[in-house]
Amino acid sequence: MADAVQTPQASFKPRIFSGIQPSGGLTLGNYLGALKRFVEKQDEGIETIYCLVDMHAITVWQEPERLRQQTREGAAAFIAAGIDPKRSILFNQSQVSAHAELGWIFNCIARMGWMSRMTQFKDKAGKNSENVSLGLFAYPSLMAADILTYHATMVPVGEDQKQHLELCRDIAIKFNNDYGVNFFPVVEPLIEGAATRVMSLRDGTKKMSKSDPSDQSRINLTDDADAIAQKIRKAKTDPEALPSEEKGLEGRPEAENLVGIYAGLSGTSKDAVLKQFGGGQFSGFKAALVDLAVEKLAPIADEMRRLLADPSHIDAILGEGAARADAIAAPIMREVKDIVGFVRSR
Ligand code: AMP
Ligand code: TRP
Repeated sequence: MADAVQTPQASFKPRIFSGIQPSGGLTLGNYLGALKRFVEKQDEGIETIYCLVDMHAITVWQEPERLRQQTREGAAAFIAAGIDPKRSILFNQSQVSAHAELGWIFNCIARMGWMSRMTQFKDKAGKNSENVSLGLFAYPSLMAADILTYHATMVPVGEDQKQHLELCRDIAIKFNNDYGVNFFPVVEPLIEGAATRVMSLRDGTKKMSKSDPSDQSRINLTDDADAIAQKIRKAKTDPEALPSEEKGLEGRPEAENLVGIYAGLSGTSKDAVLKQFGGGQFSGFKAALVDLAVEKLAPIADEMRRLLADPSHIDAILGEGAARADAIAAPIMREVKDIVGFVRSR
């Protein structure tokens, strides 16, 4: 793969893009790894574009009515968490045709070998790689199109998306080289904070995921205070007391995860959390974590319920966001078509 290049390139103005799949309800992992940081970036005053990537979601089977519901639920979660649809652009991917168009062009730039090395594809396909959709294989190429059709320069994501963003850089570099242009920015991944990889509450070596069969493994953004408290109290731990320094968490994935969640929710570091709770038993720490999680998450669930009572309002927000997104993407797509050599006569 191509070597790293200095980013962002001087000629591109700072712009943030990120996406979340509406393939299930959002989890605490999505919140700490992505949503909470999306809000921070918006509040820093950077131009921010956030997308519910429904076209990525259908790379594995989605029941149409559930997909619609989950897309609205995802939008409600963004807004409830603090995304202001006036300051940020919030929309669903399939309403802006540039994603699919550029995705195809990038399918002709990316190489089979690059895609075959993607660990997320290998994990999702498992032993079944002959029988998964072609879309699942091409997934990272569509993701590159999502970002680059806006000339976005920075992409906040959780740790698991790092390899996909490296591929996005490789696609931009290859496109620029093949056509002899400096057209696409080489994006910068923003993987920051104490909780870039939130793990399952039942197994500290597995990522917390909306697709895990066990609901006890995750906190859903729709969980009420009782459910949050019950899941944290039952979360797997080990018999040792909490260490007072971060290096004492080595080899203790469940302890590390809970400390990371506390740090993520309170906006501090794991070290700061251990200074406060180090030496104490898990029961006391868990009680504090329950209070913190309920304080931060329960209002989001309440606001989501309120928003979801009026789906047409959510649809109107997504439509308006899509129109604003399209106004940025369409002129960039026209230039792409000229660069590639497509005749454009209307
Ligand atoms: P997905 O749900 O796979 O569409 O992921 C949407 C965003 O949430 C991406 O930026 C992911 O990296 C992030 N994310 C998902 N699960 C986790 C997790 N367990 N910990 C941290 N970030 C996560
Ligand atoms: N692949 C991302 C995930 O599953 C979702 C995504 C799609 C995305 N397009 C994107 C994230 C563009 C950032 C930028 O988490």
